[in-house]
Amino acid sequence: MRAVGVNTYGGPEALEIVELPEEQAGPSEVRLRVFAAAVNPTDTLARNGSRVDTQKIDPPPYVPGMDAAGVVDQVGPEVTTGISVGDAAMAMVVPRGAHGAYRESLVLQARSVVPSPEGFSHVQACTLPMNGLTATLSLELLGLQRGQVLAVTGGAGAYGGYMIELGKAAGLTVISDASDLDIALVKELGADIVVSRGDDFAEKVRNHFPRGVDGLADGAVLNELVIDAVSDGGAFTSVRGFSASDIRNINFTTTFVTTFDGDFEKLDALREHAENGAVTLRVADTYPAENASEAHATLEAGGTRGRCVITF
Ligand SMILES: NC(=O)c1ccc[n+]([C@@H]2O[C@H](COP(=O)([O-])OP(=O)(O)OC[C@H]3O[C@@H](n4cnc5c(N)ncnc54)[C@H](OP(=O)(O)O)[C@@H]3O)[C@@H](O)[C@H]2O)c1
Repeated sequence: MRAVGVNTYGGPEALEIVELPEEQAGPSEVRLRVFAAAVNPTDTLARNGSRVDTQKIDPPPYVPGMDAAGVVDQVGPEVTTGISVGDAAMAMVVPRGAHGAYRESLVLQARSVVPSPEGFSHVQACTLPMNGLTATLSLELLGLQRGQVLAVTGGAGAYGGYMIELGKAAGLTVISDASDLDIALVKELGADIVVSRGDDFAEKVRNHFPRGVDGLADGAVLNELVIDAVSDGGAFTSVRGFSASDIRNINFTTTFVTTFDGDFEKLDALREHAENGAVTLRVADTYPAENASEAHATLEAGGTRGRCVITF
């Protein structure tokens, strides 16, 4: 069984095809024949050794990847989610050792695997689980009510795009940043107001909302630069661990998607959102597994819109 992994941390070229033994689905588990795995920024950190303190590569290889889509080919005993052999399905994967999404065959707890949205390819479906769940969690942490205002940085990105779309689906007014090239895209995603990106985001937000916004999701990881965009007593959620305290009663939270590992209902709600058109599944390009390093190099070069997807 083929996978894409690293035996030694390094640049994109460190990714190589590795052979791994096939695993069998045990109780409450499902096996997915993976046809597509999305490439996310976190995978590049897993590959280059940035997480060497927490990430085990012993024994090698380490297999990255948090998003998979394919066809269920085994259902273990005691699976109660209704999934069957032959179903097209998608999953969020929390990589551990050789257990990441970049592999042809993957055994997962059944509650991590939901039917793929109908009418979408495996390549499209694999772009949804991890970033969709991250945006879902961020919205919960922000705790906004219909009619309130959400600001999103990095609106053209995978996470930012889902924040805009799920924010609109939740009845929020959304203001987002975008580069000149991305203004049309971010408007199409549903942002009510788009401002040009830059370190003065907070000032631009205050031009539209003088008291600041009710909540901010910081997909561009601008951290303290954008705190001023938030109103007194508003909410700020970060995606790379940034936090602050004692600033104008703002509720700072950190979004970590692993919180939603195995949350069948939340992942299945994303399937519904895709089927009813509330979220858009965006693919930049596909790369056969043997060219996975190209997918990482492309993502790291910046400016990709939609996900690069590795295919098996
Ligand atoms: N904690 C979690 O559970 C979790 C889960 C998912 C994602 N994340 C993190 O969330 C972040 C976004 O992920 P993603 O997949 O959406 O990445 P992405 O698709 O690359 O999107 C990031 C967006 O931010 C833009 N950007 C970068 N620097 C900027 C700046 N200085 N000002 C304004 N915009 C800027 C990028 O534009 P360019 O492409 O032009 O640079 C891109 O549009 C990443 O740091 C990722 O690791 C965390």
